Amino acid sequence: MASKKQRIGVLTSGGDAPGLNAVIRAVVKSASSLGWEVIGIHDGFEGLLGTKSYRVLTNADVQGLLPRGGTILRTTNKGHFGPRRSDELSETDPYVRAVKAIEEMGLRALITIGGEGTQRIALELHKLGAPVIGVPKTIDNDLAGTDRTFGFDTALQVATDAIDRLHTTAASHNRVMVVMGRHTGWIALHAGLAGGADVILIPEIPFTIERVTDKVHARDAQGSAFSIIVVAEGARPRGGSEMYIAEGRLGGIGHWVGEQLERLTGKDVRVVVLGHLQRGGSPSPYDRLLSTRYGAAAVQAAARGIYGEMVALRGQDIVTVPLAEACGYLNRVRPHSDLVLCARSLGIVFGDEL
Ligand code: F6P
Repeated sequence: MASKKQRIGVLTSGGDAPGLNAVIRAVVKSASSLGWEVIGIHDGFEGLLGTKSYRVLTNADVQGLLPRGGTILRTTNKGHFGPRRSDELSETDPYVRAVKAIEEMGLRALITIGGEGTQRIALELHKLGAPVIGVPKTIDNDLAGTDRTFGFDTALQVATDAIDRLHTTAASHNRVMVVMGRHTGWIALHAGLAGGADVILIPEIPFTIERVTDKVHARDAQGSAFSIIVVAEGARPRGGSEMYIAEGRLGGIGHWVGEQLERLTGKDVRVVVLGHLQRGGSPSPYDRLLSTRYGAAAVQAAARGIYGEMVALRGQDIVTVPLAEACGYLNRVRPHSDLVLCARSLGIVFGDEL
């Protein structure tokens, strides 16, 4: 009798990021080389609940996906999958229902593409016996266990391009540009360096507005009529906290910095909040490649029966790391890392200078 065709599932969860479709494509193509069937689950983990929402993905379905932003499977931010209240195996628990659905669908593996929130859900499902394999996505690059998440490079490109454009309009106005990154400063630090910012403010290095003002004055004295200040949305003044514009939405820091600078320098300041543009558009070549390597490696992990792990970039290599490690802490910028030291040696100010 012919053996039953092997099946794996794939889903995208949390915020979108450039490269999601490229991972899906790599998963489908790699699985099809093994003769496996791929089930694409819609709307993140939500597609596993209720009447279930999914479809079979063939090579034809992923044609032309490599450069396409967004996700053909759609995504949900947590949905029913909040923190588990207890270890009870209640029939109404969404985690228990999802594990049952994975079994009913006959999936030998479920590839979960997402950031920290997604991999936490995947870890819980794994603890209940589900054969999950994570793929690290987020423009923030804040997921532990990997040197790089896909999506980051594209966001960096958008942010750097925005700084270049700001330079050409700055002439006599100081510019404050807020970039994303949640509680970490990876995008601000990289884009600030790549775009030639004068000041970079990141959550990992609390700042004082006086030091920022000193830099603006110093540039003024040298004949530079404007300064470019790149601010991570999670940056905070020394002794202060992160600034939200609404419940759970960072971004208030830019206007605060702008107002304080105007007050202290008497000069005009304009504030730009770059926002979701950083998550849009076609993935960069680097992200296409990383997404493709991650998708193929996730299928390889499934072939080797490696579950409860996340594919990750370590140096030049793709490896797998335990999901528990990926969810254990946030990957933050080290204040004494070479990138920060490099920026300081160029005269870029972080606002903590003595
Ligand atoms: O985690 C990705 C991210 O874009 C963060 O940089 C940002 O703080 C957050 O998501 C924005 O979330 P939302 O899309 O729900 O506004």
